[in-house]
Amino acid sequence: MWSSSVTTGAELSISGITAKTLAGEFGTPAFFVDEKDFRERALAWNQALHNNFGEQAGTVYYAAKAFICTEVARWIKDCGIGIDVCTGGELSVALAGGIDPAKMELHGNNKSVAEIEKAVQAGVGTIVLDSLYEIERVAAASAKFAKVQKVLLRLTPGIQAHTHESIATAHEDVKFGFSIASGSAWAAIQEVRAYSTLELRGFHCHIGSQIFGYESFELAAERLISLLAKYRDEFKYELPELDLGGGYGIAYLPGDENVDPADAMGALSQAVKKNCAKNNLAIPIISIEPGRAIIGPTMFTLYEVGTVKDVTLEDGAHRRYISIDGGMSDNIRPSLYDAEYTTILANRTSSADKVSSRLVGKHCETGDIVIREINLPADIVPGDLLAVPATGAYGRSMASNYNHVPRPPVIAIKDGKARVIVRRETEADLLALDI
Ligand code: LLP
Repeated sequence: MWSSSVTTGAELSISGITAKTLAGEFGTPAFFVDEKDFRERALAWNQALHNNFGEQAGTVYYAAKAFICTEVARWIKDCGIGIDVCTGGELSVALAGGIDPAKMELHGNNKSVAEIEKAVQAGVGTIVLDSLYEIERVAAASAKFAKVQKVLLRLTPGIQAHTHESIATAHEDVKFGFSIASGSAWAAIQEVRAYSTLELRGFHCHIGSQIFGYESFELAAERLISLLAKYRDEFKYELPELDLGGGYGIAYLPGDENVDPADAMGALSQAVKKNCAKNNLAIPIISIEPGRAIIGPTMFTLYEVGTVKDVTLEDGAHRRYISIDGGMSDNIRPSLYDAEYTTILANRTSSADKVSSRLVGKHCETGDIVIREINLPADIVPGDLLAVPATGAYGRSMASNYNHVPRPPVIAIKDGKARVIVRRETEADLLALDI
């Protein structure tokens, strides 16, 4: 839940810097990212992939959508892993961070021609194709820049992963990829083969996000490998690559556990080896795309309490509303996915009794809830600091300017030093777009 340099004993501190010092220097709300923890997690996934797949280990593509900025792109470059980008914007940041384009993968179910051309021209290693239109568009862009573009086909293996409906992506009724069951994957294979400017390297799937348990990943591997065998039988050639996506779950609440990279890659390699043996196929190069599992646990958000209000409910019970200075504009996940978080008092200890509380934001909307129900010390007052852990993934990256609230900064902490890597937005930034 908390990153490795955070201590929560008395006052919360990260790498020896207290929450009060951080709030004083950088203001609130703000995201704090533990750089060492990020690097360790990125390397752990890379190590686990290599330990389990040996020479057939492909690339760990960090999923930029979880969170990206130029400095984090530099960390990715340093760690020697790759990056999955799904828009021209994410591609620009990855390039600005100096990541080798050969280690980039372009995703998206509706990439524009401009995005495709930018990727092909930049030399992006792999483009993951998502529709028949796109096959034609990528082939045209490759011809335009006189390149042969490596591509994977994104497939829908027909799996209902156990997660929130909005973040499951591999059942049949989704906008992503080509369905294996309906035959559209096979039609796409034939279409790709018609273009000499496209080199079909293999298949991709991403079954969803915040997934625990390995059965769905294993089933996806089984279905993709069966299709590799069908391809081999038909075209007398074994496609060399599979990318099995991201989606590994992390801890948000006390008692939760992060998916362990070594366990996850161990289970995946067994499934891949078993199914390749069954189909008499060589083990393909295996890549993965964890986003949340790398960045999620490395960040926390620090808020300042602004008001505390008790309301009487219909049954006579009371509920305490604690309002902080951010909310749904910096963390939309509770409203969108019923995501659950925890928080702790970060600037002092309290021995006061705990009272059932609801942590809410400052936005003009009843649904602006960060934590629906949590027992917090009864003596929390305006000015106290609350830290919410595990906000690294899909927090800042999905932040908005709802109610014209400027988006919070991101501060990196390492070896007892804190530095801004994304500055706080200002009201001037917001006005700058208005004509
Ligand atoms: N690869 C592809 C093709 C993806 O679409 C995604 C996430 C990932 C990798 C990374 O998944 P991860 O390892 O981070 O679970 N906004 C939602 C999550 C949406 C995920 C979209 N795709 C949330 O806040 O839970």
